[in-house]
Order: sequence, then structure tokens, then C-alpha cells
Amino acid sequence: MIGNIESVRKEFARALEQATTREQLEQVRIKYLARNGLVAELFEHMKSLPADQKPQAGKLLNSLKVEVQQAFEEKRNLMEGEGAKNDTLDRTMPGRPRPLGSKHPITQTIDEIRQIFRSMGFSSAYGPEIETDHYNFEALNFPPDHPARDMQDTFFLSPSKSVLLRTHTSPVQIRTMEGQRPPVREIMPGRVYRNEAVSARSLVSFHQVEGLYVDTGVTFSDLKGTLVAFARQFYGKDVRYKFRPTFFPFTEPSADMYISCFLCKGKGCRMCKQNGWLEILGSGMVHPHLFRNVGYDPEKYSGFAFGMGIERIASLRYGVDDIRMFYENDVRFLNQF
Ligand code: DAH
Repeated sequence: MIGNIESVRKEFARALEQATTREQLEQVRIKYLARNGLVAELFEHMKSLPADQKPQAGKLLNSLKVEVQQAFEEKRNLMEGEGAKNDTLDRTMPGRPRPLGSKHPITQTIDEIRQIFRSMGFSSAYGPEIETDHYNFEALNFPPDHPARDMQDTFFLSPSKSVLLRTHTSPVQIRTMEGQRPPVREIMPGRVYRNEAVSARSLVSFHQVEGLYVDTGVTFSDLKGTLVAFARQFYGKDVRYKFRPTFFPFTEPSADMYISCFLCKGKGCRMCKQNGWLEILGSGMVHPHLFRNVGYDPEKYSGFAFGMGIERIASLRYGVDDIRMFYENDVRFLNQF
């Protein structure tokens, strides 16, 4: 008997929960609460119990009856309550789903680059966006009259020009080396700022990922091997590449890395400006001056560094021909990633 009472209690709770229309609610009432419903049936059944079991069963049954009635009234009030009375609101209609957002394509690209370098033993480091001339230029071996210090490129935050918004993630190299002894294997993603006119190809604020590898006996082959392995994972294993000598104050020798244009496969198109190659990053062997600036012995250690612009890499990869689209937050654009 007690078992029966409990199972009616459970079944009723489930049936009540599942009832979403007035008709269904009425069915529940008929099945459980009507004069010949299941609760009444239990009362009937109690009459035939042995006298010594009646008090306990009666008590349980009474509380079941009260409980069932209350729950039923509550649900009916909810369904026929204020709003339902004047019928402007159909409480039985399914809800409107809210679309889920997703990671921004720039964040996705940074995550992917981090993961590729993590598989090669690099961890991630971060530095401040407000920098000093020392970290952004001086310690990176920029001569005092270097054109990159010019007002044109840099947002200065102090009249003396000693505080500024970092123009690249390279200052994080210095901060990282100051904070640890070799071996160093870090990538350093972050936002950077340039005082430039906004156009389809340039923004005043964008992202870079810097990389730094310092140890004993690091050579240019390590640089090439690491960056080629990265390009194969990021752009596909058949990607063709080339390194071309260039100049950066903080590396010697320095090289830009290019990959063959994947839109036209090197034949020449709008994306590669008809020359078949796309520049994807700058790199080089860390200049000994940098090691001296952070207290590493340049006779003992060597290393390579690289830096890439994320908006550029992402726009090349996805064929986005106006870089400003990354920051318009138009869901028709964002939905495609
Ligand atoms: N900091 C350079 C820039 O903003 C990019 C760069 C080039 C970073 C070569 C490096 C490097 O670490 O080795 O244009």
C-alpha cells in the first residue's frame, strides 16, 4: 500500500510537469483528482487494509491528497494566471532560442598559432600595452634617430615621449629574458598600436605574435626548421616558402618569410599583388646587444626571434580583402568563422 502511494506521488509529479496545455492539465486532473481518479482509488483500497495498518496509510494518503491538490492548483494558476487571462500571451509556445556566440576569428587564429608552437615546446608570455621607450625601442637596439620612433608611427603618452603604446610585441622579448635564464622558448601574443591612417590594409590597433628561442648553440637552421614546421601546419604541408634577407635593429642576420600564394598557387593574383608570394613574418637571430641588455652572455647563448601580424595572417588565410571587417562586428561576417 505504501509503495502504491509513493508511485502515484511520483507519477503525478511527472505527469504534471509534462502537461503544457490546458487539455493536458485537464487529463492530469481527471486521472488523479477526479471522483474516481487514482487518489480516490487509493482511499477505497485503504478500507480493505488490516486495522493496524490503517493509521499509517491514512496519514500518508491524506498528505498525498493535499500535496497533489496544491501542486495542481499552482500549475493551473500559472497557466491561467494574469497574462493568460486576457489571452495576449500563449504560455504554451516553445521559447525562442538565443543564438550562441563564438570566438572572434582573430582570437581563433591566435589560439591556433599558440597550439602549433606549444606542440614544439613553446609556452606563452604577455607584456603591457603601455610601454616605455626603453622596452619598445632602446633595449631592442633602435638607434636614437631611428625613423620608427618618429611621431608618424608611435602613439606617445607623455610629452617627453618616454611612455608610449607599444608599436610591436618585441618588447615582451626583453621582459621575458629579464625574468628568466635560458633556455627560453616563448611566444608572445598581444595587441599593438600604430599611428597610421586606417585603410583596407592597415589599422591603428592590431595583433602580433612574437616568438623567441634562446639556448646554447641555436642556429639559423633552427629558425628555419621551426618556422617551416609552423607554416606547414598552419597553411598545409604542401606550402612553398622562401626567406629573404632584410633588416631589423634587434636581429642579425634578419629575414622575411614568404609563402607561395595559396589563392593562385604562385601564378599571380589580386591577393599576392601579382607576384605569387605573400610575406607572412619577420625573423632573425637575436642581436648580441639584446643579450647584453638583459644580462645574458652573448658568447654563451644564441637565439632566434620572429614576429607576425595576426590580422594580416588571418586575412591572407581567409581571403578577407578589407582588414577593417575584423572590427565591424557584423555577425554576417563573424558567422563565417
Ligand atoms: N617587431 C617587428 C615588427 O613589428 C616584427 C619582427 C621582426 C619581430 C623580426 C621579430 C623579428 O621578433 O625577429 O615589424
